[in-house]
Amino acid sequence: MPYSTLDNITQQAVARWSTTHDPRLRELITKLIPHVHAYAKEVGLTHQEWLAGLNFLARVGQWTTDARGENILLSDVMGLSMLTVMLNDKLPKGATPHTVLGPFYVDDSPELEAGANMAEGVAGEPCFISGQVRNLKGEPIAGATLDMWQADDEGIYEVQLSEKSGPYLRGVYHSGPDGRFLVKTIAPLGYAIPMDGPVGELIKGTDISYFRPAHIHFIMSAPGYQKIITHLFKRGTEYLENDAVYGVKQELIADFHRHEPGVAPTGEKLDTPFWTIEYDFVLAPEGATADAEAKQAVPA
Ligand SMILES: [Fe+2]
Repeated sequence: MPYSTLDNITQQAVARWSTTHDPRLRELITKLIPHVHAYAKEVGLTHQEWLAGLNFLARVGQWTTDARGENILLSDVMGLSMLTVMLNDKLPKGATPHTVLGPFYVDDSPELEAGANMAEGVAGEPCFISGQVRNLKGEPIAGATLDMWQADDEGIYEVQLSEKSGPYLRGVYHSGPDGRFLVKTIAPLGYAIPMDGPVGELIKGTDISYFRPAHIHFIMSAPGYQKIITHLFKRGTEYLENDAVYGVKQELIADFHRHEPGVAPTGEKLDTPFWTIEYDFVLAPEGATADAEAKQAVPA
């Protein structure tokens, strides 16, 4: 092949990277190069812009720590995280859908009894989440795991608090023999995504809303069923239609009911107003996919 020219450099780079040993990595790289080259040609990328872009990515990396997923945030606000979720969501119709994991999950949350408070000592209005975990046939799933986490009333997650040592607004619950669960926490509020880093700087030069609607995170799992990573969103809350990370799905919007002081679903008497949510999760069996379902529906 001759020396590089504007016309052949893309082909040359693809040919060079076609020697990547791992087949999937080879596909990922060799398909990426033509897109990046086409982009540079389309916008007429200047040397200054090329360097600014690379320096921006370097700064995103410098801001990224275990407690601060600036890299994930960049993907989130560009819609890439949610696009990836949707590309990989092959769950059959009727199953509770996935949404983004987000950067604040901690995987060693304490096991809590039904009705136990995962927001012990945290300011906010008490909120009780109950419902049933079911399969696609409507049968209850006993012993399903609900691994939950949320932000506090200032929109802060545990990993963002350097002074916190114990579990803060997170816990693992299980469904009972009838598939039902009961969680006590605080009512979630909407919050701003972290705006003090390079991604925030970029957003400040736009009219983009950098808020997320009120939500609670869940990872739902049960033996023999597909794990789902999802949220519950509060119906009627702000930012549902312009979630900064594109995470809202119609099926994940739940009704939150506010109650005057009185007897809560746990049986305790509260002298403050409180909230209740009733929401059922539906899990699909391992191996079941929307594609398989569609094939089955076609008569032979
Ligand atoms: Fe969140």
